[in-house]
This record gives sequence, C-alpha cells and structure tokens, in this order.
Amino acid sequence: MIYKFSFIEKILLSNDIIPHPFADASSSVGLGYALGCSVKLKIADALAMDYQPVGQIAKKANVSEIGCELILDCLDALGYVSKQDGKYAFTKRGHKNLSLQSPENFRYFILFCDYLYKGYANMDETIKLGKRPHSNMLEEMSEYEWELFSRAMIDIARTSTKEVISKVPVSSTATTVLDIGGSHGLYSIELCKKNPKLKATIFDLPPVKKYAEECIAKHNAASQVSPLSGDFMKDPLPNGNDIILSFNIIHGLNTEENEQLAKKAYAALNAGGIYVVLDQIKGIGGSSQLSKATTSYMALNLLHQAGGKTYSLDEVSSFTSKAGFRKVELKKLNAPGFGVIVCYK
Ligand SMILES: C[S@@+](CC[C@H](N)C(=O)[O-])C[C@H]1O[C@@H](n2cnc3c(N)ncnc32)[C@H](O)[C@@H]1O
Repeated sequence: MIYKFSFIEKILLSNDIIPHPFADASSSVGLGYALGCSVKLKIADALAMDYQPVGQIAKKANVSEIGCELILDCLDALGYVSKQDGKYAFTKRGHKNLSLQSPENFRYFILFCDYLYKGYANMDETIKLGKRPHSNMLEEMSEYEWELFSRAMIDIARTSTKEVISKVPVSSTATTVLDIGGSHGLYSIELCKKNPKLKATIFDLPPVKKYAEECIAKHNAASQVSPLSGDFMKDPLPNGNDIILSFNIIHGLNTEENEQLAKKAYAALNAGGIYVVLDQIKGIGGSSQLSKATTSYMALNLLHQAGGKTYSLDEVSSFTSKAGFRKVELKKLNAPGFGVIVCYK
C-alpha cells in the first residue's frame, strides 16, 4: 500500500495534476497482482533479510530472471523489499507479511485475494443484473480454494482477536456460545480463554471443520470449544445459547437472508442472550477514505461473490429488531470500516 508521498506529490495529487486514474485503474491493480505472483510463484520464499542478486532469487524460485526482477521492483515500490546495487532483501514489513518464517504473515490472505481477482473478469454482469449471475462462490470452490479461504480468515482474525473479544459483553451467568460461520474458531477460543465458564460450538460447513480442529488443538482449547458441521440457513441451530457470534457473516447474505438468520439466532438464544455481529459497517468511519474503501470494496466483492453486501448500523438494527431484538449497540474497531454490533434479546 503506497501511503507516503513527497510534498510535491501531495500538491500534484490534491490538485489532480497527477491523474488519479493512473494509480486507481493501473498501477495499484497491477501491484496487487505482482504481490499475488510473488507468493504464488514462491519468489517471496526465496527472499531473506540479507541482500541477494536477482539471479540467485530467480534460480531459487525457478522463474525467469527478467520476470523475477519485475516482480521484485513492484515489491520495492510497495515497501516489501529494498533494492541496493541490483540486489534485493526483505524490509521489516516484507518479512512480517510475506516470509514463511513470520508467524504473522499474510500469505494465505494474499493468495485468496489472487483467487478472487480471477472472478472479477465477469463483474460487469453482476453490476448489470444487480446480483451474482450464478451460484454462490462457496458452492464452486475446490478443496484447495477452501483452504485458501479458511487460512485467509485465520490471517485476518489473528490481527484482532483480543480487541474484538474485548467488545463482547459476557454476563456472569453465561455458559454457552454458538459461533455461526465460525470457521477456524479463533474468536471463540479467545472468548473461552477469557471466560473459563464458557463452552463454545463452532458451527460451519463441512469443508471447514478441519481448520477449526487444527486451531482448537493448537490452542489447547478442546475442553471448551468444539466444531459442529452444518448449514446455518438450512439446518436448525443448536439452541439454549447465551451468546451467538456472527462474525463476517452478514456481508455474505442478502437482507432477506439476514432477517431469517437473525430470527433463527433470536430463537436459539436464552432470555437475555446476545447476538454479536462483527462486520464492515457502512458509514462507520464518517469521511475516512480508508474506511469507505473497506466497506465499499467489500460490498462490491460480496455482491459479486455471494449475493451479499455491507450493511449500515440502521440496516442491521432493522433486521434484528424485526427478529425481536430489543436494542443494538455499535462498537468501533481499530481497523477502518470494521465494527461490532451487539444485539440484545
Ligand atoms: C467470511 S468467513 C468468516 C469466518 C469467521 N467467522 C471469521 O470472522 O473469521 C464466513 C464463514 O461462514 C461460513 N458459512 C458461509 N455460509 C454458511 C452456511 N450457510 N452455514 C454455515 N457456515 C457458513 C463459511 O464457510 C466461512 O467459514
């Protein structure tokens, strides 16, 4: 992400002397592809904090020297590598996000985005029709694409589990949590770690179960957290819950589906229970361009991939009050555009 501009560049950009479409329609899209290529083609795997000649990096990655140099120059522009005398090394940011050795790397997220780009070729059709022309993306994914999707969700969740869970009000009598579309289960794992009386069920589609099992084992959470395969639209939800988490779920559904899901959640909650929605919330960031970029891009992406969009607080309030929830409370997250909405039964 390019965010540092010289004084002159700022003046030229703010006066439209540098044409904004040059970056918006050209270089930022191409740089995103280059980032995807660097991980997919294992050029990132060949990089280190020490400077290496391009030939050496290309040889390790088994790609052409000219191609490798072009990708490395794009990574240099983005701030992931540094170039000195024709040699390249990771910057700190590059190592953190792209290195296999970094526990905080974003490699699966990048690969998943690279997979999404392929589908953008027919976005015109979605915009003309106002809906996705054919089945939901999830129905078309291969086992490998499920892995990219699930591990990309892990990459994102890792950055904010503690902050998100700090926004969930847990009553002193609460014991049961249902995490619908909970995938890897990292949010429930953190919630249970913080509240030893809680037991959580991760309710997600069958291809995802192994990623929940992997995370539960990694965090020694099996005594409190267990996965359950099911479809939250078609199957009954397990009932008797004090807390239902719906994290990054509403954006994948249309308004009608969200009304149905909120009704099911209401019915599956004990008296006084809470339905906690985490999502990109339209309008949450006021005039922040970063916030608008997140909520608007996600709306477009989700309409195209799954027939969903992003919703405002008022829209969430409308479909949850129709389901019977008596009040909603919005809590902003540090990530621009993201918020938690707590809906009280
Ligand atoms: C965007 S991911 C969010 C995962 C996790 N809640 C998080 O915030 O990181 C959406 C999850 O919902 C699951 N999902 C989508 N439709 C579902 C359905 N009808 N029934 C159960 N799970 C579903 C997907 O498999 C995926 O794991």
